[in-house]
Amino acid sequence: MKRRPMHYERDLDTLLELHRRSWEINFPGRRFDSWVFTASLESSARRDEVFIYEDDDAIVAWLWLAFPGRDGAHVRHIQVVEDHWGEGIGRRVMLDAIATARARGRRVLTLVVTKSNARAMALYRSLTFTVERDEGERQRMWLDITRSYLLPDEAESEGSHNT
Ligand SMILES: CC(C)(COP(=O)(O)OP(=O)(O)OC[C@H]1O[C@@H](n2cnc3c(N)ncnc32)[C@H](O)[C@@H]1OP(=O)(O)O)[C@@H](O)C(=O)NCCC(=O)NCCS
Repeated sequence: MKRRPMHYERDLDTLLELHRRSWEINFPGRRFDSWVFTASLESSARRDEVFIYEDDDAIVAWLWLAFPGRDGAHVRHIQVVEDHWGEGIGRRVMLDAIATARARGRRVLTLVVTKSNARAMALYRSLTFTVERDEGERQRMWLDITRSYLLPDEAESEGSHNT
């Protein structure tokens, strides 16, 4: 699997379609505002905070990171193409998120998950994320990424590389 930065104009339609599907899973019955998503994604892509993962030139996953404050990194979104669920790609992308955050000097990785999303919950728990704040249907989780055991090979983390 290879990682590259998002090319905003070229990848937007694919990510929009993927994100609509994710929205149905995480916010069932709620309206998806593509304008807000698109505007926010564009500014993140321009800052190199959106990554595409490909196998044989086909997109299999994407990751949207933010870097709030001095110590933090936040997973705004992680998504694996549904045909590839259960192959361990989500775990590899999360490990890459950890490596990327570390390479940018961050100490804590956070995310917000919908509790009914069993697959995502299993993934974050197995990576030892713990609950920081209960928000009803959702919860905010965090992980101290200064601990090294999660990343035995200290994966490379910037630009285009193999994961
Ligand atoms: C959440 C998501 C990224 C996981 O990707 P994935 O490639 O399937 O993840 P993995 O194959 O690495 O497996 C994730 C975990 O789910 C577990 N799992 C597999 N099938 C499961 C099931 N039916 N129910 C619950 N957990 C399951 C696996 O055992 C694994 O746990 P482990 O790491 O302890 O082995 C993917 O399902 C997805 O893209 N969902 C839609 C977008 C989304 O909701 N993103 C999360 C936003 S917070």
